[in-house]
Amino acid sequence: MGLLTPIVKEFRQMMPYLGELLSVWRNENPTISTGTFVASKERTEKWLDELVIDRDDRLLFMVTSLESEPYGHIGFSNFDYSELSGEIDSVLKGVKDAPKGIMNFASQTLIAWGQEVVRMKEITLSVYSDNESAIKFYEKLGFIKTHEVPLMKIFIEEKNEEKYEVAPEGYDGPVEKKYLYMKLDKEKEKKNELSYTL
Ligand SMILES: CC(C)(COP(=O)(O)OP(=O)(O)OC[C@H]1O[C@@H](n2cnc3c(N)ncnc32)[C@H](O)[C@@H]1OP(=O)(O)O)[C@@H](O)C(=O)NCCC(=O)NCCS
Repeated sequence: MGLLTPIVKEFRQMMPYLGELLSVWRNENPTISTGTFVASKERTEKWLDELVIDRDDRLLFMVTSLESEPYGHIGFSNFDYSELSGEIDSVLKGVKDAPKGIMNFASQTLIAWGQEVVRMKEITLSVYSDNESAIKFYEKLGFIKTHEVPLMKIFIEEKNEEKYEVAPEGYDGPVEKKYLYMKLDKEKEKKNELSYTL
């Protein structure tokens, strides 16, 4: 049905459209980020270089058609090598009229790859607690709610931007948003009826 293609160091040559396209998608979908900035090609490419590719606990894949037409992206982050655990990260259907179910298939495939090839034992994620459509999407995959954590709004003066961060223990300031944490439940997990090829 589609392909998961890792975004690698040479993305400017291999996927020259990426910086521009991911910026448009990010600006159209503020729920995927904790910041309130307007994305640009340069900023997105810098983010890919420094906060995705340079990190050894993070891997982001483009979700595309079999003809490599981009539909969205999905990945793993905060991979813990000793615990063999990690979080589903950056889930976004950028093309809203992409085939129905493509993100479900992409997630199932990524999870199956994580379990079978990477040998991950625990897969978790965090989502804004008011992002009902994403929570429903994750529940269909077999994720269950574990706990919520309050976020606090911070202002980054040098960038003139606002950002949400996990509030420290004992924080008693205003809480506008919360993260809901979810984990993949072995009983509820939707077993992959698809075959996939590496
Ligand atoms: C979260 C997100 C990726 C889910 O996308 P999606 O369109 O629901 O996902 P899919 O492509 O798998 O499509 C699922 C739909 O196809 C339908 N479908 C059709 N065939 C299907 C199949 N074989 N398997 C699964 N679903 C199928 C489902 O019923 C579902 O329809 P519904 O929304 O009416 O329930 C999308 O809402 C998104 O990009 N949101 C903005 C970014 C965001 O908030 N990300 C989460 C950050 S934590």
